Amino acid sequence: MADTLTITDNRTGRQYELPIQDGTIRAMDLRQIKVVPDEFGMMTYDPAFMNTAACRSAITYIDGDKGILMYRGYPIEELAEHSDFLETAFLILFGELPNPAQLDGWTREVTLHTMLHENIKKFLEGFRYDAHPMGMFLSAVGALSTFYPDAKNIFDVSSRRLQTVRLIAKVPSLAAYAYRHTIGRPYVLPDNELSFSGNFLNMLFKMTEPRYNPHPVLERALDVLFILHADHEQNCSTHAMRGIGSSHVDPYSALAGAAAALYGPLHGGANEAVLRMLTEIGSIQNVPGFIKRVKNGEGRLMGFGHRVYKSYDPRAKIIKRIADLVFEVTGKNPLLEIALELERIALEDDYFVSRKLYPNVDFYSGLIYQAMGFPVDMFAVLFAIPRTAGWIAQWEEMLTDSEQKIARPRQVYIGSPRRAYVSRDKRK
Ligand code: CMC
Repeated sequence: MADTLTITDNRTGRQYELPIQDGTIRAMDLRQIKVVPDEFGMMTYDPAFMNTAACRSAITYIDGDKGILMYRGYPIEELAEHSDFLETAFLILFGELPNPAQLDGWTREVTLHTMLHENIKKFLEGFRYDAHPMGMFLSAVGALSTFYPDAKNIFDVSSRRLQTVRLIAKVPSLAAYAYRHTIGRPYVLPDNELSFSGNFLNMLFKMTEPRYNPHPVLERALDVLFILHADHEQNCSTHAMRGIGSSHVDPYSALAGAAAALYGPLHGGANEAVLRMLTEIGSIQNVPGFIKRVKNGEGRLMGFGHRVYKSYDPRAKIIKRIADLVFEVTGKNPLLEIALELERIALEDDYFVSRKLYPNVDFYSGLIYQAMGFPVDMFAVLFAIPRTAGWIAQWEEMLTDSEQKIARPRQVYIGSPRRAYVSRDKRK
């Protein structure tokens, strides 16, 4: 069997044989298909990249029909069970699970870089008291590029490594500072004796106690949530990271753009939207009416549906289990009942079943975050912290891929043909 695709152009009767590699043809191979020699040649039209692979990647594998997610070949369920966030970040960034010495070294490196420059505090102080923490977060990440001009050396391996460590270490501090700003509390310095997630909780919630002791169940739950959110192949924000990074800008600027993409309600802002939706529904009795309105096209069931998963999102399954553990400590989130009822009805309803709409990662994560004491505004920021690992790994992979160039899609022009300029006094 030849690994080729034969295309017949019925306009000319000519045939073309295109090589197939990994189930794909190269869009550039279509360019030779022309009716007359001086025309541009055939392109593909694929709004929203529904069926276009824009890169070859060795980081994350998803099988959306079977509900499989793996980082570097390791199933997400096993990582969520046995790993912790820093180890998983190492795996995603460098390709292999660290040996004990590597893990120690990596943890020490990250821990040494958790502090922020004092001027970053002043920068954050410039925001209004009610600024959305995600707006503050993404601006502050962008501002880091001015603190580390050496980050412009993107083809210097040691510089990339340093920016990687800085970013992984500093995003929790930025996130916590943004949160403390919105509630008018003083910033809390990192505690290097605590774990990555434990220290983050410390920077968020420490009050007057001499030492903050994170609740081990909540610390572990947050860490697992971080593992689940660490990468998700070519999603909207990762695509932004790669696209912006392809201009060879520094990683802080690219990551600010990726965080901006994550902010949107169809992406990382979805769990915030889920909570607002559940609050609006208010009680179980209102669930059937809400489902009816969704089916009539009046809004979406937030936290349901996914571009890639056409079965239960494997992350949502793990999150549901974590929710039970967290609620044992914090007490049940009163919105849980509404969420469970929405899920029950939606999974039986032909509208959702026929469209293969299942709960995604965001359906239950917001309930956990809320029970842990996070305000809804912080949810997208909580997503951005672990996704930083994925963004950097994908950025690095893009930079070191000899086939990648500045990202520049084509268009199908549908505007007016050439016309002569009309002077102002002659316009109708
Ligand atoms: N509620 C109701 N109907 C929906 C939903 C939903 N949540 N999602 C999709 N549909 C319908 C949509 O109306 C369309 O119906 P029809 O064929 O009759 O026009 C059909 O399902 C296909 O939808 P689509 O918009 O073409 O699907 P997409 O792949 O472009 O969208 C999505 C994927 C995630 C943007 C979408 O499912 C959605 O808006 N979900 C709600 C927001 C959400 O939970 N986002 C978080 C995604 S997971 C976290 C992340 O990766 O960021």
